Amino acid sequence: MTSGQGQWPADVGITAIEIYFPSQYVDQEELESFDGASAGKYTIGLGQKRMGFCSDLEDINSLCMTVVHKLMEKTGTAYEAIGRLEVGTETLVDKSKSVKSVLMQLFPASAAADIEGVDTTNACYGGTAALFNALNWVESSAWDGRLALVVCGDIAVYATGSARPTGGAGAVAMLVGPHAPLVVERGLRSSHMQHAYDFYKPDLNSEYPVVDGRLSIQCYLSALDRCYGRYRQKAAALPGGGPVTVDSFDAVLFHSPFGKLVQKSLARLVFNDFLETDAAAVPERFPGLEGVQVSEPHKTLEESYFDRDVEKAFMERSRAQFEQKTKPSLLLASNVGNMYTPSLYSCLVSLLVSKKPDELTGSRIALFSYGSGLASSLFSIRIATTNGSGSRLEALLAGVSDVVGRLEARQKVEPAAFADTMQLREQSHHLAPYAPKADPSMLFPGTYYLTGIDEKHRRQYARAT
Ligand code: ACO
Repeated sequence: MTSGQGQWPADVGITAIEIYFPSQYVDQEELESFDGASAGKYTIGLGQKRMGFCSDLEDINSLCMTVVHKLMEKTGTAYEAIGRLEVGTETLVDKSKSVKSVLMQLFPASAAADIEGVDTTNACYGGTAALFNALNWVESSAWDGRLALVVCGDIAVYATGSARPTGGAGAVAMLVGPHAPLVVERGLRSSHMQHAYDFYKPDLNSEYPVVDGRLSIQCYLSALDRCYGRYRQKAAALPGGGPVTVDSFDAVLFHSPFGKLVQKSLARLVFNDFLETDAAAVPERFPGLEGVQVSEPHKTLEESYFDRDVEKAFMERSRAQFEQKTKPSLLLASNVGNMYTPSLYSCLVSLLVSKKPDELTGSRIALFSYGSGLASSLFSIRIATTNGSGSRLEALLAGVSDVVGRLEARQKVEPAAFADTMQLREQSHHLAPYAPKADPSMLFPGTYYLTGIDEKHRRQYARAT
């Protein structure tokens, strides 16, 4: 595998993917009742079923070690084959010291430490920045023929209150290289970056963010509008390019803090398609919506919520598209919750496990990544049909074929015990020295866990058998 002179390698994208989520969860219906929320608020209102969470045995380093070890083991990839290692996370423990540097412990002495890349942070967007860095490296003059390894992981926890049911935890690792079954389309990335205080973590002594939930939704939808508009412009400007609509994609995936926002986001894209449609074509393309009146829509963050009537009309209009193009991608997001940086990639895994290889081959997937603060991008993946990618796709799918079984093998924990665990994490956050209290026997085999933190805040880990 060489980079060649003066040309890009072919079909650069994701060659393998692995996901890790915690072995315990709390049921959202039970949590509603425990929190005194009205029945249906978390399950119907937010669209969530279960929420994964970590005890004091797991931290960002252990999550990332677990997922990397599993990916390398399952794919039989030699650590010597990795030339770049990128981590996206917003869960900081050692602040100046990267999770990437911790992951170097997994690399045996025989593997060269000549490995570029460190951590990238911007709320839930860091994983996408890490992926873009890896893709850019493989397509650059610095590429030496090795693979890039992209890792994203987070522990998403909120203080008690309305945001708590939108937590979650997990990690995703991806190998990036040429001749990939999941090819990231060239020239088709659009971004929107803006200053906003919608969600941030100013208190370095706490795991909890400061969050303005309403503003975060406005920012998310506004960023989606802008990324979609720019993506369409870029697609139209490409040689042979043309108009893009939601129907240009077989699947549309979103950063997924909670299911209801995702369904509204798909409706929002269809609404954008409606706005771009000539009035004369509306009766044929959007029958029944001829009367929708929109005055200067979504020009500012504050206006970026839907008008309720318009929202209802487009949620209804896009229902079948949602069922077909987006709902299959919410399996992990609805059962584990918002994993922050891995959220979008958990949607990719969910889509892959919901289809047969022949249904996936040749399909085109749109992916919207959002991180508060704010950073956002829309990009697309094409599942390759050439260059022997059929067997590569099957190998990639075999790697994630255990996901549904793992989801079902988790242990349900009562909301009161979940609340106690959150309290323990609060009290032990940044304590040193510290010995974790939870029992490692409840972890899935192969999970890394914290065995202790010494007086200098140095962390030690073991792997569950
Ligand atoms: N049955 C059915 N639906 C209900 C019920 C009920 N009993 N009660 C409320 N609902 C509906 C509401 O109508 C609302 O739906 P709508 O938006 O379609 O009207 C939905 O449930 C949520 O109810 P709200 O009252 O709006 O919820 P609240 O404001 O208490 O909290 C929020 C929701 C803001 C999302 C909060 O959980 C939060 O701050 N989460 C963290 C921020 C976040 O995830 N932002 C997303 C992007 S940024 C990121 O990824 C971190």
